[in-house]
Amino acid sequence: MKIFISKVWAYKHTRLIIGTLVVAIAVPGIYLINGVSDNVQKMKAVEDVTYFPDYPAVNSQGKNLTLIKRGEYLAKAGDCIACHTNTPEKGKTFAGGLPMVTPFGTIYTPNITPDKKTGIGNWTDEQFIKAMREGISPSGHYYYPAFPYLYFSQVTTDDLKAIKAYLDSTPAIEQQNVKNDMLSTIRLANFIF
Ligand code: HEC
Repeated sequence: MKIFISKVWAYKHTRLIIGTLVVAIAVPGIYLINGVSDNVQKMKAVEDVTYFPDYPAVNSQGKNLTLIKRGEYLAKAGDCIACHTNTPEKGKTFAGGLPMVTPFGTIYTPNITPDKKTGIGNWTDEQFIKAMREGISPSGHYYYPAFPYLYFSQVTTDDLKAIKAYLDSTPAIEQQNVKNDMLSTIRLANFIF
């Protein structure tokens, strides 16, 4: 009898454990699939767009043109324009605002023009390097990995300074960043990984 009871108990527990596992896997799974299909829908919608933002004319007055040109080359290679321009709405180059849909919410890319109020015009080289290399903002928060800072972590300090010099020489666009609409737990997960 005792054995029978413990078998029933174990059986019930097995069901509970399996049930919990199924829920634990299925819920984020469905969430993920939904997010991905949303993304695909958005991308399809964007495919029809024939608008490609232009690289702006640089203002190199009083600055090191060679450095700016090198930065421009690197910024083109890093494709900063693709994420930091709201192409679907014909937004201004580097002024951000492009919605990036993830399974955990929507991230809006920030303004990286040299505007002092809404862009990165007040950033020092050190702050820029830290953001690009470590994914940490001047106020000390971690960026979401949608900003592919991991890929930029190997870029040399001189190259990052060149990118900053280039961005500084592009037109300052006053455009307030859009607040992200993300689950706050993601920053925590980001921190752990
Ligand atoms: C795949 C898209 C993508 C690409 C490519 C990309 N970025 Fe970003 N970037 C982002 C996102 C998304 C954020 C915001 C992350 C967040 O809010 O946590 C960001 C944030 C930043 C920030 C921080 C701005 C702020 O106000 O805090 C800087 C600086 C930046 N990117 C510079 C660059 C440069 C320079 C390049 C090209 C070398 C580049 N990014 C390429 C997506 C991208």
